[in-house]
Amino acid sequence: MVQFNLPKNSKIIKGNYFKDTTGSKNLKKINIYRWDPDKKENPKIDTFEVDLNKCGNKVLDILNKIKNEIDPSLTYRRSCAHGVCGSCAMNVDGVNTLSCMKSHKDINGDINIYPLPHLKVIKDLVADLSNLYRQYESIEPWLKIKQAKPKNYEINQSKENRKKLDGVYECIMCACCSTSCPSYWWNGEKYLGPAVLLQAYRWIIDSRDEDRKDRLREVADKLKLYRCHTIMNCTNSCPKGLNPAKAISSLKKMLATN
Ligand code: SF4
Ligand code: SF4
Ligand code: FES
Repeated sequence: MVQFNLPKNSKIIKGNYFKDTTGSKNLKKINIYRWDPDKKENPKIDTFEVDLNKCGNKVLDILNKIKNEIDPSLTYRRSCAHGVCGSCAMNVDGVNTLSCMKSHKDINGDINIYPLPHLKVIKDLVADLSNLYRQYESIEPWLKIKQAKPKNYEINQSKENRKKLDGVYECIMCACCSTSCPSYWWNGEKYLGPAVLLQAYRWIIDSRDEDRKDRLREVADKLKLYRCHTIMNCTNSCPKGLNPAKAISSLKKMLATN
């Protein structure tokens, strides 16, 4: 049988153990992936004992507590803390999610926290989203009008047409879906993935946009679109409750019937 070995320096090793110093009886063990490109060491899992008596309910509260009180070098992205910016996406307890929306009370036992999977790691929980942002830029996510309009011209939209954007405009580009998608893991350079395809769909169905045909032509590609095999991981992982798999099948249907 063929045996595959990981390069020596990619193996995750046991890291430091940060014991509680408060004497609290309400402790939770948090295991966190750590990797510092400047240290030239293997990635490791550090374990922190955290006093939940003095901690907010969300996983992000735990990370903030560790950073503020135990290890200031812990690195992760966050901004709004209210599920709006998408920057705190990571893998918590085996599921991609927003750490500011995920309650640690729902998790039994130790909490394991990793960066979003199948991306290069920049440091600790910060994954490299450059490819995803390049792909996002490629679908030109802005309203396109063929002819210049007079200054102060308003582009109106009926209530019915505005309603069609419900379930897609809420996407915050957190990448939880794309990094849950096996097709994106293996073909991420070419396949656009669920987050970017949902965004492409959002502009294609916007009644105000005048570039629908070209937009559709752009995504009608064996690799960009048809690498989706309807595995549905994307929809199951979206922390905003959106359905990128449905948006992708709607795109395929539009192309088949246009
Ligand atoms: S569809 Fe959901 S999971 Fe995917 S990027 Fe948008 S908000 Fe995040
Ligand atoms: S439905 Fe398509 S985009 Fe979603 S996880 Fe499956 S293959 Fe990926
Ligand atoms: S910090 Fe903005 S979505 Fe979590």
